[in-house]
Amino acid sequence: MQRTRLEGNFRKRLCIERWKVRKILKPLEHLTSIYGVGLRREHYPYLLEKPDTDIDWFEVISENYMNTEGRPMSVLESIRKDYPVACHGVGMSLGSATGIDRKYLKDLKRLIERVEPFLVSDHLAWNDRNGIRLHELIPVPYHEECLEAITKNIDNVQNELHRQIAVENISAYFNYTSSSMSECEFVSQLVRRTGCLLLLDINNIYVNAKNFHFDPMDFVRSIPKESIAQIHLAGFTDMGNFLFDTHAEPVHQEVWNLFETSLAYIPENVPIMIEWDEDVPEFYRLEEELNKARKIVKRGHKNEAEKTSESVL
Ligand SMILES: [Fe+2]
Repeated sequence: MQRTRLEGNFRKRLCIERWKVRKILKPLEHLTSIYGVGLRREHYPYLLEKPDTDIDWFEVISENYMNTEGRPMSVLESIRKDYPVACHGVGMSLGSATGIDRKYLKDLKRLIERVEPFLVSDHLAWNDRNGIRLHELIPVPYHEECLEAITKNIDNVQNELHRQIAVENISAYFNYTSSSMSECEFVSQLVRRTGCLLLLDINNIYVNAKNFHFDPMDFVRSIPKESIAQIHLAGFTDMGNFLFDTHAEPVHQEVWNLFETSLAYIPENVPIMIEWDEDVPEFYRLEEELNKARKIVKRGHKNEAEKTSESVL
């Protein structure tokens, strides 16, 4: 199909904009330690006492701190004095066919200027329809038309924020008959076309693999490794005939196993965090979960080192 001159100019301009995004931004360069947890209001009183923790950084839900001057923001500012922070959104609606809400982006930009996160992320999903925000992350169909729309959305967001964003793979409970590629192919194409980063949620890969009957390692092996900027670990709930991504339980052993096997495909020093959003336990339980991740990573490095010395001998 012949492209019009307008389309040609638009594509040329996008290429220039993408180049600028890639050239200017190194969002992770300030983070030296990699183990984090989600900041949840249940832990505000404890954290405001400034305890010694095993935590290197916190992930915050962007929308909880956008457009607010109340207690959540004052707690965040206090925590930000001591810890690096990543902003993780649930409302950008990257899969929206009508583009990204301008006001949402403006509010997010203001939050970013205020807390200077080392990473900004959201989901490969949609939840905004003509200004009505749905409270679920809805998957997108994996086909070319959708890929073009989301590419345009990510380009717009990255150009507006002047930084790369990381896009997270979500858990899903249905898929579309119109999809013509796998989730993994779709995500890889998005990375290639926009230069965005990836937030790899190991629990979501496991949940989808069980719900849709595929090998989770096929997903991990095929993802563009160099773009992985963060890892999520969380607990699902077994509903009997499907797995539900509730973030209401400890990380399941099967997900720890997948995490351990995946380490061979994940660059070193990628920030790793525990998500726990329902039935939030005391803070020390999050530290315990994070320490399990630490041990697994350490074991992985030891095994790699042993393999290297064996091959040298
Ligand atoms: Fe996640």
